[in-house]
Amino acid sequence: MATSTILVADDDRAIRTVLNQALARLGYDVRTTGNATTLWRWVQDGQGDLVITDVIMPDENGLDLIPRIKRIRPELRIIVMSAQNTLMTALKAADRGAFEYLPKPFDLKELIGVVQRALTQPNAPIARTNDDADGDEGLPLIGRSPAMQEIYRVLARLMGTDLTVMISGESGTGKELVARALHDYGKRRNGAFVAINMAAIPRELIESELFGHEKGAFTGATQRSAGRFEQSQGGTLFLDEIGDMPLDAQTRLLRVLQEGEYTTVGGRTPIRADVRIVAATHRDLRTLIRQGQFREDLFYRLNVVPIRLPPLRERSEDVPLLVRHFLGQAAQQGLPMKSIDQAGMERLKQHRWPGNVRELENLVRRLAALYAQEMIGVDVIEAELSDTEPAPTAAVVTRSENLGQAVERHLKEYFAAHTDGMPSSGLYDLILREVERPLLSLSLAATRGNQIKAAQLLGVNRNTLRKKIRELDIQVIRGLK
Ligand SMILES: Nc1ncnc2c1ncn2[C@@H]1O[C@H](COP(=O)(O)OP(=O)(O)OP(=O)(O)O)[C@@H](O)[C@H]1O
Ligand SMILES: [Mg+2]
Repeated sequence: MATSTILVADDDRAIRTVLNQALARLGYDVRTTGNATTLWRWVQDGQGDLVITDVIMPDENGLDLIPRIKRIRPELRIIVMSAQNTLMTALKAADRGAFEYLPKPFDLKELIGVVQRALTQPNAPIARTNDDADGDEGLPLIGRSPAMQEIYRVLARLMGTDLTVMISGESGTGKELVARALHDYGKRRNGAFVAINMAAIPRELIESELFGHEKGAFTGATQRSAGRFEQSQGGTLFLDEIGDMPLDAQTRLLRVLQEGEYTTVGGRTPIRADVRIVAATHRDLRTLIRQGQFREDLFYRLNVVPIRLPPLRERSEDVPLLVRHFLGQAAQQGLPMKSIDQAGMERLKQHRWPGNVRELENLVRRLAALYAQEMIGVDVIEAELSDTEPAPTAAVVTRSENLGQAVERHLKEYFAAHTDGMPSSGLYDLILREVERPLLSLSLAATRGNQIKAAQLLGVNRNTLRKKIRELDIQVIRGLK
């Protein structure tokens, strides 16, 4: 096999030396330079089988060089390394046709793996290039920790695709933000981004919400209504809290994903679904599968590309960047600009952040709004953190609230989920059924499936109970505790 020549451009001499030694040891012919001009000359001369380039160099930006290289030597692969480790760098590198993007500092073993892949992997279809309207402002995702870098790289690779993505992560880790970034920088960005939260919609309504309904499809359906699939046609449908989807709706969704078409509730004509699906959950779907609450086949349909967002405590090095970002946002909204002293920042980095980035964001807002001093010290941070601990998790909220408050909370969430108008009609019956279902099934469980005793307990006629069990399709399991 002929020796491959690798062209390396980086203004950091130490990096050039490391790469030179490592690659030469593997038998490659290596040429290094500290500037883009020399690299460009080599490429023009037809030299090299692979380029490894830095981004910021004294004479030219390595990313700007990529399209020029691609124009004269489309087959020449380019690996980009950068300490500018933002989502934008990863996206730009991928978008301009880089073979791979490696954040600095990189792992030498990984780099060698990429080099070998770049020199052997058969040519993929030439990547598209986009017009370049983005600056670094308004970057949607903040963080340069290794965990975030990995996410940027996955996102960058996904941008040219329509692959289904499953985002998991604790509450407040940025799942929705990532879903939006996938849409906003992807090839469907000119279509709509439509989100639907499975946890906020009563089970009876989910199918009609997803697929729409015809006039007269059920009591209260006084007119035709478009579902989220239809609204997101040509765009992205974000299925949030997918772990909360009821089983019957899961079955329906699976069929739609398999067949690529759906019908509205009460409708007959199949409609082609041209929708990119992104799903998210904070729950462990594998556990739900084991418990029989989530369909395994649907899971594999959705989990084509899994993205796991790390909790903030696993990337505490990102805390200062996030704090600065949120302080900047607060200042843009007219609040005075503040900063946090070093001890305060250290304290923030040590916090466990059960509510993740959202919790940090809220805390920074409070700091910007409530404190007069320009420099915030560790004592203020300490007081704020102890005020919020333990963070109110969903479990705590539900334990202290009564039934009426719980219903109120659910209804508020439900209405809030309909920012674009009113939910479909028939709400009264729907809500009563939501309450009846657990009432009956738990009463039956308490009487071990004995319907006579359950009717007594509930204070209703036995026939009424039987009718309700049938209507609500409640499973009666006898003799079970
Ligand atoms: N990497 C990040 N950079 C900047 N802001 C972030 C980042 N991650 C999350 N945020 C912000 O934190 C807040 C919560 O993010 P988001 O709503 O996407 O979380 P989530 O994972 O969907 O949470 P939940 O599970 O509670 O729905 C948002 O205001 C979002 O803008
Ligand atoms: Mg969310």
